[in-house]
Order: sequence, then structure tokens, then C-alpha cells
Amino acid sequence: MKVLIFGGSFDPPHRGHEALLDAAVKFLKPDRVLIVPTWLSPFKEGHAAPPSARAALVRAFAKKFPRTFVDLFELRRKRRVYTYELLAEARRRWPRAELWLLAGSDTLGQLGQWRRPEALRRASWLIGMRPGAKLRVPPGFHVARLRGRFPDVSSTELRARLYSGRPWKRFVPKPVARRIKRRRLYGLAWRDELSRELSKDRMRHTLGVAALSGELARRHGEDASAAALAGLLHDCGRVLDTAAMARYARRRRVPVPWRERTLERAPLLAHAYVGAELARRRFGVTAADTLAAIAHHTLGRPGMSRLERVLFVADIASADRPFPEAKALRRLARRDLDEAFLEAARAKLRWVREEGRWEHPMGLRTLRYAEGLRS
Ligand SMILES: [Fe+2]
Ligand SMILES: [Fe+2]
Repeated sequence: MKVLIFGGSFDPPHRGHEALLDAAVKFLKPDRVLIVPTWLSPFKEGHAAPPSARAALVRAFAKKFPRTFVDLFELRRKRRVYTYELLAEARRRWPRAELWLLAGSDTLGQLGQWRRPEALRRASWLIGMRPGAKLRVPPGFHVARLRGRFPDVSSTELRARLYSGRPWKRFVPKPVARRIKRRRLYGLAWRDELSRELSKDRMRHTLGVAALSGELARRHGEDASAAALAGLLHDCGRVLDTAAMARYARRRRVPVPWRERTLERAPLLAHAYVGAELARRRFGVTAADTLAAIAHHTLGRPGMSRLERVLFVADIASADRPFPEAKALRRLARRDLDEAFLEAARAKLRWVREEGRWEHPMGLRTLRYAEGLRS
């Protein structure tokens, strides 16, 4: 008897998973297939569907494969279950079975660092290769390589697409896509709400920023999904008018720098900080870095993380921005994020001066910080 185990975060399951499992089933002809969605920490951003929804997506994904069961082993325990524990459990259930683990080539390189590698060596591994990947088998592992190359789809990239309103359905098996749509997962519900409450132009800007923010994050080694999510919510403070924004900031003691002076002289600047508060309270975002990116997307601050800088730049360089600098800034940001960050901070201060508006002290501090990054 052969049992094939396929673990993953499946957030959401996609065509890459499907192609991998298809090939594995053809190659191995297993008597049983177990799909095991992994538990994800609710405090880590970048994953988005709650465990029950993810279990439903994985079930929809598994339907077309015969003799396949979705095993909620990890989701029920509500903690990360190590692969050696999963193997021990399978061994207990099928003492005489041949156990096979299915994984992508990116997993294989890390196997040596996993807990209890000696237990992992006792199972067999089936590996599918992503385009361009090389097979490096860690010593002592029994590995069979699946024929062909598997599509380079990732759940992170898919979520980034969903958050920014870019096409996504072709990367997902149909029954999975239907469930995502019906249950309004991966930001679809937020997009519905924001389109109702923001103007058409503001919504177009929002999705433009989400798309650029995701793209810049990917290019510069940040989490594209977290960046696109921050982009989707960055202007959510604008669902309030300035009077309501000021009331909200005072009542909730939102940390707007120089709060009273800001609310008097340039109340619209509060939308970023109020937006971060709304992202947390109303939309349930928990990741500190994402919230910080939203709070500081307009004025910035010294010590901004790279994700914060990505959103700061994406906000003034997005494709919907009418001013001539936007296009050049976009190009620059793809090549050199910190140079673009400095240019963005300079441009903002220049506009404030040209238009005779109040110079917020935080703007100058951000500029000094940006200059420091370049030297
Ligand atoms: Fe904004
Ligand atoms: Fe914006």
C-alpha cells in the first residue's frame, strides 16, 4: 500500500498545486492521498483566509482526485505540526504502508534544516521542479523527481493579484475560484466595501497603488501580498470626511504626529493614521508592518521599514497619478527603491512649498532620513 502526503499552506490552492498532484498521482498510483493544509499563525500577514475557509478551498481542490482525503490534522491542533509528527501519525494509522511526501523543488533545499531529519529520511519524497530550479538532494534522502516542469504560480502572488484587482482566475482550479468569489475571500469583501464608500477615482487610485506596491515589493524582496494588502487599505481613512476624521482621531487618540496642530492646519493628513486604525479595527489587519505602512504612507517617518517605503513610493507613483513625475518615479522605483524614496520625499516637500501649504515637521524629518539612506 502506498500513501501520498501533500502538505502546504494552500492559501489559496492553485494550478501549480494541481499540476504537481496530477503528476504525482500518475507516477506513483497511490492507494490513498492525504492533503494536509498547514496551520498558519494568525499574526503573520500575507495569509488571509480563516482556517475554516481554507479547509473548504482545499476540499474543493481535492474533489477531482480519486482516493483523496483532506486531513485537518494541523488545522484542528491550531499549531504548526512538524512533518516528522505528521509522518509518525501516518505510520500509526498505516503501519505497513509506503509513505511518500510530495513537495516542490523549493522545499527540498531546506530539508536539512527541518526538525528530526532522520525521521524525514525514512519516508520517500516526490519532487516537482519549478522552472529554472535545480535539484539538490540533501544527503541520505530518498527522492524521486517528477517529469516535466511545474507552473511557477505562488499563493503569495495570487493574493497580491486579488488585493489589487488584477486577473487571477486562470491561476486557480475552477471550483476553488468559485468558492473564493462566493465567500468574498482574499480582500474581495473589502474591495466591495471600499468601492461603495470611496469615489470612483479614489478606488481606481487605490487599486493602482495596490498593484504597484505589490510589484515593487516582489522586485525588492518583500512580501508582495502584504504590500498589495497595504495598498488596498492605504486610503481607507478617506471613507470619512475631514470633520469626521478629526473627530475619530481625537476620540480614539489616534497617534497623528502633532495631532492638534495637524487637525487644525491640514486635517486631510490625518487620513493615513486614521486609515491604519480603521484597517485594524474594522478590517481586522493585525500585522504591525502593514499597519505602519498605511499610517506613514503620506508623511513618512524616520526609520521606515522597506515595506513602508514601498507603499510611500507606490502612493505617489501609481499609474493613475496625473502629474508628470509619476512615470519617471515608477521607473526609478523598479530599479532603485531608496533613490525613488528620496525623490518622492523631495517632490512632496516641493509641492507643499510651491502651493504655500503648511509644512508638516514630519515631512522634513522623512526627507532627512531618506537622504541618510543614500549616503
Ligand atoms: Fe493617502
Ligand atoms: Fe493614496
